[in-house]
Formats: sequence, structure tokens, C-alpha cells
Amino acid sequence: MKRILPVLVLSLFLLASCSKEAPPDKEELTESKEEAAAEQKLAVGKTIYDANCGGCHNSDVAGAPTPGDKSDWKDRIPMGVSVLAKKAIEGYEGKRGVMPPKGGNEVLTDEEVTLAVKYMISITKE
Ligand code: HEC
Repeated sequence: MKRILPVLVLSLFLLASCSKEAPPDKEELTESKEEAAAEQKLAVGKTIYDANCGGCHNSDVAGAPTPGDKSDWKDRIPMGVSVLAKKAIEGYEGKRGVMPPKGGNEVLTDEEVTLAVKYMISITKE
């Protein structure tokens, strides 16, 4: 009995600590992964925006809507990301000025322009 008791206590202890370290809820895990991925995409969008779009959009050059200025965006955000991204990719002439296709940088992919648009919307919504 002298030898068995410590073993018994030890195995009980191991059992208890095992159940404490149960893996986190699966749903919780995927959610935080998605959040991290979304954040990463916004960071990429910011880099693209800063390099290609901010020149006009940061300071209202030629009537470009400024991200963060809610009145500039109140009629635009409801159009949705896909419409706004399409106009940014193809370019268009609006009441206030000309938005050149891809901001004038043709080497950008459609996806990169879309990420920049998502970034613009995200900081306006904050
Ligand atoms: C040469 C200046 C210039 C650059 C560079 C530029 N834009 Fe624009 N953009 C404009 C102007 C001007 C407008 C507003 C036109 C209007 O509505 O009259 C505009 C409008 C937009 C809109 C709103 C579209 C709508 O339907 O109202 C989006 C979205 C947009 N730009 C995204 C971008 C993105 C993304 C980039 C970078 C890849 C970019 N722009 C670079 C000038 C620019």
C-alpha cells in the first residue's frame, strides 16, 4: 500500500490537470483566426492605400473622398465594397472629379485595389 498510494495520488493529479487543459472551443479558435486574417488584410490594404491612393484621398485632391470623413462617405458606403471596388478598378468620372483606374497604378491587381477600398471603408466606419 505504501507504494501504491503515491502512484494513485499522482495519477489522479495528472487526470485532473489533463481535464483543465482541455483544448479551447473549436469555434472560438476559428473565429480568432478569421479576425486575425481580416486584420492582416486591412494592414495590407493600408500599405496599398498609402502608396497609391493617399496622394489624392488624404487631402481631398481634386475632390477625392477622404477616408474618415463620414459626410464624404455616407452615400458611398451603402453602394457596397464590390461596387466601390469596381469603380476604383475601372475608374470613373464623378461630380467632383476623376478617379483614375486603379488610382493610376495599372500594376495593382484587382484584389489589391479592393483591399485598399476595404481599408478606406474600415477607417471611415470607426
Ligand atoms: C489622381 C487622384 C486619385 C488617386 C491617386 C486615387 N483616387 Fe480614388 N477618387 C479620386 C476622385 C477625384 C474621386 C471622386 C470622384 C467623384 O466622385 O466625383 C475618387 C473616388 C474614389 C472612390 C469612391 C467611388 C464612388 O463611387 O464614389 C473610391 C472607392 C476610390 N476613389 C478608391 C481609390 C483607391 C482604392 C485608390 C488607390 C488604388 C484611389 N482611389 C486613388 C481621385 C483619386
